[in-house]
Amino acid sequence: MFAATSAAGTATPKLSVEHARKSFRQANGADVAAIADLSFTVRAGEYVAIVGPTGAGKSVLLDCLLGLKTLDAGQILIDGRPVQNFVREKKGHITRIFQEDRLLPWLSANDNAAIGLQMQGVAEKERRATAARWLDAVGLSSFKEALPSELSGGMRQRVNIARAFAPDPELVLLDEAFSALDDVTATRLRQDFKTLAQAQSTTFLIVTHSIDEAIFLADRILVFGAPARLMAEIAVPSRAFEDRAISDQIKDEVRRLIAAGARVQ
Ligand SMILES: Nc1ncnc2c1ncn2[C@@H]1O[C@H](COP(=O)(O)OP(=O)(O)O)[C@@H](O)[C@H]1O
Ligand SMILES: [Mg+2]
Repeated sequence: MFAATSAAGTATPKLSVEHARKSFRQANGADVAAIADLSFTVRAGEYVAIVGPTGAGKSVLLDCLLGLKTLDAGQILIDGRPVQNFVREKKGHITRIFQEDRLLPWLSANDNAAIGLQMQGVAEKERRATAARWLDAVGLSSFKEALPSELSGGMRQRVNIARAFAPDPELVLLDEAFSALDDVTATRLRQDFKTLAQAQSTTFLIVTHSIDEAIFLADRILVFGAPARLMAEIAVPSRAFEDRAISDQIKDEVRRLIAAGARVQ
């Protein structure tokens, strides 16, 4: 499938966030901004990481991308159309992997992995088969009927990855997806995730506080200030993860920008 092109020949971005603003009313009646005039675009098939201080409105942005929250001003376009229309017409084609696993404790790994497909109205036999294929792909062939309580944290996160990929999503959102895991498990899971992701023609938005993760997974890093606004974009060369000099340079730059953009407490 080809992205639509404008008369000028430039492809319509997969995702376009334009002058987004979102505030929340606090208990004391004051409005606090979570997103402040945020604009950026993501091309189809791109892997874009978002890093920024805690409380910078990153998770609120992902809620807005899923159509769960609405902006106060500005707009979010998917394939050039308002996100609300996309979400209504293409149910379950934007998926999210959270830090905590959010599996339903009473459902097997297979049924958990099939939840997105169920939302899409896929018939039971087909959704079980598709979910089973994804559990095979994430290395959980022998655990399809296991309950979440019978799985380790890493295995539960593998079920979440299967659940996010099973509906054949066009946009996958990661929200600190590997942050709750120990280093060894997180490193293996990131590698396996990347291998699976690269076999799909999907677009990825990866919120992470790990700059190493951003360098490993992303083509481009967006550095957010708090409230969410774009402070800088850093291109990640494909060899950056292996080349210590390049990755150290990117890390220094990102840390400097995050420190400069943190909300004054
Ligand atoms: N439902 C809500 N009601 C009030 N304030 C909220 C709500 N959701 C988020 N916020 C506020 O929005 C800001 C951004 O939160 P969040 O997106 O969770 O940050 P992070 O970048 O760490 O993911 C925070 O100040 C938070 O307190
Ligand atoms: Mg968050």
